[in-house]
Amino acid sequence: MCGIVGYIGDRDLTSILLVGLERLSYRGYDSAGIAVISDGELSCWKKPGKIHALNEALKNMIIQGQVGIGHTRWATHGEPNEVNAHPQLSQSRRVAVVHNGIIENYLELKSKLKKEGHIFLSQTDTEIIVHLIERYLQDDLESAVELAAKDLVGSLAIAVVAEADPDKIVVYKKGSPLVIGVGKGENYIASDVNAIISHTKNIIYLDDGELAIIEKNNYTIKRNGKIINKEIQTVKWDAVISDKNGYEHYMLKEIYEQAIVVRKLISKYLQNNKVHFKSLKLDKEELAKIKRFIIQACGTSWHSGLLGKYLIEKYTRIPTEVDISSEFRYRDIITEGNKIVVAISQSGETADTLACIREAKSKFFKVLSFVNVKGSSIDRESDGVIYTHSGPEIGVASTKNYVAQLVSLYLFMVHLGILKWTLDEEKVDVMLNNLRRLPEQIDKILQQTDHIKKIAKKYAKSKEFIFVGRGVNYPTALEGALKLKELSYIHAAGYPAGELKHGPIALIDENLPVVCIAPQSETYDKMISNIQEIRARKGKTIVIATEGDENIKEYADDILYIPLCPEDLTPILAVIPLQLLAYYIALELNCDVDQPRNLAKSVTVE
Ligand code: G6P
Repeated sequence: MCGIVGYIGDRDLTSILLVGLERLSYRGYDSAGIAVISDGELSCWKKPGKIHALNEALKNMIIQGQVGIGHTRWATHGEPNEVNAHPQLSQSRRVAVVHNGIIENYLELKSKLKKEGHIFLSQTDTEIIVHLIERYLQDDLESAVELAAKDLVGSLAIAVVAEADPDKIVVYKKGSPLVIGVGKGENYIASDVNAIISHTKNIIYLDDGELAIIEKNNYTIKRNGKIINKEIQTVKWDAVISDKNGYEHYMLKEIYEQAIVVRKLISKYLQNNKVHFKSLKLDKEELAKIKRFIIQACGTSWHSGLLGKYLIEKYTRIPTEVDISSEFRYRDIITEGNKIVVAISQSGETADTLACIREAKSKFFKVLSFVNVKGSSIDRESDGVIYTHSGPEIGVASTKNYVAQLVSLYLFMVHLGILKWTLDEEKVDVMLNNLRRLPEQIDKILQQTDHIKKIAKKYAKSKEFIFVGRGVNYPTALEGALKLKELSYIHAAGYPAGELKHGPIALIDENLPVVCIAPQSETYDKMISNIQEIRARKGKTIVIATEGDENIKEYADDILYIPLCPEDLTPILAVIPLQLLAYYIALELNCDVDQPRNLAKSVTVE
């Protein structure tokens, strides 16, 4: 995994690399490092931990140099310490490489190189890349990188600098993303555009199998040893700088932005009570003919997909499957019929989700994606895109973009329902009016923060939690449990409430808090029965209920009320107290809520 950045030019190299790394830290923050060539000599600095540890280490140093590469790591091979941090250096310490991806045959290559006398210092797969490059380095760096790349199986985006060929950065891409930023008298490379967009908007997206030689005034791209011409694309968006805006954490700020996000989506996609998706690119006739959807996504986005299935099937009668991306790829999917694969991804860079898109396209599926980050790999590789427009989401645990995904899926379902004639105008009016009430209702929930804080304090010492819900709120239970795990490291599991009695009920005793999502719905009475079963076994119940539900007081140890709304929209409201509950429990436990341990905002390895 990881993010890579590189610069060649006359400006302040260190600050360009460090700012780039900060912007790439969504790809991992286990360690960071840079390697610079100054007066023909290679120097390298790296630190375990977040980028600010590297910033601190470098703050009083004057680093000269015109060529440099940097890396922010999410550990795959070897623990996140200084030795395993990138850049990885060759045996002579004269070649440095940064790498995003996984080398699958590294053990085989390592033992071969060891037999030749190579000594390895790290446990990383990356170290073998730089040893190989040095082994092949005779004339120019690009030939050595090209030869090394032929030996490597797996996914890689690499950037290499070497004392022997000091005025260039050589990059190679296979599997992991890599872009070149074209400047005047300077050039950049990065894992994504946003790392360098404040310097240049002229971008070349490299494709698999391409190698590029980046020099100060020039760049050359090659495929199979032959020079190729690639189009420079001008990105149309600006760098969005996100700050905490007075909030203690990005996550809290993002939770509080949710009403604004919903308003924005409504104003973007609803005109005169009609749903319009400008970037959808799939025409209406094409969509109306779809006989089957297969949604694939990871993490929180997968939970959105689960709700998407309920909505699409209920209102459009189109059979819809939902897969976790890493499972979709390896099952023998039936390809017959008129079908679309739907990818859902905040970052647009999740490796498993991206791999599924490629797999789906190779099997002649059309791909429609719900994406937040414009210009991301999933955005570029999909046939049609619906942007979730939640703005930059910095907190690693997704909050506002989840709500944005749910609203976007809801609007998509309405759009489809109209095309398929399964929804009439009157029904659509009612649905859209209910949707328009959400921002106000979200703000109302956010006024309960003090109450949620108290509940968080009461349960923060619990060793584990269970979350249960039914129907549209089964995904909410999964999402509530995921938020708590991600932020507080407390074990939590989400279940369909009806499944409780088939196993999980054995866990219940007086020490187990069970979060029950029980708003007014078709299955409300069933939820009450489940809650009673929990209480009968002395479990503690924290219930999400609809305002005005007095009856629930009898069954709940603690209640979090959400405003009344139609059942299909309750997941959008019910998740908000769960996000806050996880946030405040994590604060009670002194956890890093914005960058929890072991996680990355975008998982860029399969
Ligand atoms: C990581 C993040 C999760 C996210 C998941 C999918 O695991 O930590 O918060 O839900 O990736 O990410 P995506 O960008 O594809 O939505």
